[in-house]
Amino acid sequence: MTNIWSPIKIGSFELPHRLAMAPMTRSRAKPDGTPGDLAPDYYSQRATIGLLITEGTQPSDDGQGYPATPGIYTDAHVAGWRKVTDRVHAAGARLFIQLMHVGRRSHPDNTPHHRQPVAPSAIGPGEDMFTMKGMLPVPEPRALTTAEIQQTVTEFAHAARRAIEAGADGVEVHGANGYLVHQFLAPDSNHRTDEYGGSMENRARFAIEVVHAIADAIGPERTAIRLSPGIPTGGIAEGTDNDDLYRYLAAEFGKMGLAYLHILYLRQDPLLAEIRKTFPGVLVLNRPGRQRDQVGADVAAGLADIEALGVMALADPDLIQRLKTGAPFNEVRQALFYAGGSAEGYTDYPSLNAA
Ligand SMILES: Cc1cc2nc3c(=O)[nH]c(=O)nc-3n(C[C@H](O)[C@H](O)[C@H](O)COP(=O)(O)O)c2cc1C
Repeated sequence: MTNIWSPIKIGSFELPHRLAMAPMTRSRAKPDGTPGDLAPDYYSQRATIGLLITEGTQPSDDGQGYPATPGIYTDAHVAGWRKVTDRVHAAGARLFIQLMHVGRRSHPDNTPHHRQPVAPSAIGPGEDMFTMKGMLPVPEPRALTTAEIQQTVTEFAHAARRAIEAGADGVEVHGANGYLVHQFLAPDSNHRTDEYGGSMENRARFAIEVVHAIADAIGPERTAIRLSPGIPTGGIAEGTDNDDLYRYLAAEFGKMGLAYLHILYLRQDPLLAEIRKTFPGVLVLNRPGRQRDQVGADVAAGLADIEALGVMALADPDLIQRLKTGAPFNEVRQALFYAGGSAEGYTDYPSLNAA
């Protein structure tokens, strides 16, 4: 039985224990997509968590969906992220930047170029989105051409290179939660008739090409991907071949020697255990809504190597100390999850030593 507090290696890095901070958008970047001035404090405050997966970060103008999310493709972005990685490394943690291309889950008001969102097919998610003018319906996206898909793959690889240039230890592709990679995987958002649509293998092609291109650019041991099998966020309804699709992806990614595979899982069925068996590398698991007495259970049961925690890490900079000592958690201030440039609900959650 593996203990959550035992060390583990991912790629060439040794982590002191088996908890990670799950990726969380905080919408506090500068207008040009450079991480906000408080981002180095925010991430370094949480350094005892060991592995920090950052907020979703766009690899291109097209990739942005929400207001004030950071990018990692310009010199200014690299300089901004460098301030974060320097502080995180000085505090002893590792940081993977999550590359999030939102695809159709975007509004022109929120992007630098204000263009129509792009997607595998011209099918909207049927949802409203937060903008600076309030909630607005997401417009119908434009289908990417085959050449543009290949260009998007290249942009992911470029962003990954820039992340390493900024001092990140690796990148995690956001392949979960109804964003671009997931839109290619799901048959209801992907009606393409070229080699990126139709069969399960074709729908998986974009995800695999993105991960391959990144692994070629920065090394597979610095490359990871997050998937959410069976989670219907963002208008996604996965197909009848859903479980086979994820078995196939686990096998394909398993051949690449990745840093880790990150699974976001809600269901209580054998698929997770099958993915675990199929994927030979490090498996990071995030089970939404986990409570303190459940932390460590999946690692102990052999279902995962690392457990990722979201809200607990957001609200408790010293989460590890609190878990180890049984000290109470801070009260979560949900209304401040995405609260602009403010320190409130961001860097002002107290730690025990300061309290
Ligand atoms: C404020 C907030 C922002 C989030 N942003 C992202 C994101 O950018 N990328 C992502 O993959 N998941 C995102 N998530 C989902 C979390 O990574 C995680 O899956 C979710 O919070 C459930 O885990 P938890 O119960 O431990 O918080 C976000 C969650 C929250 C609460």
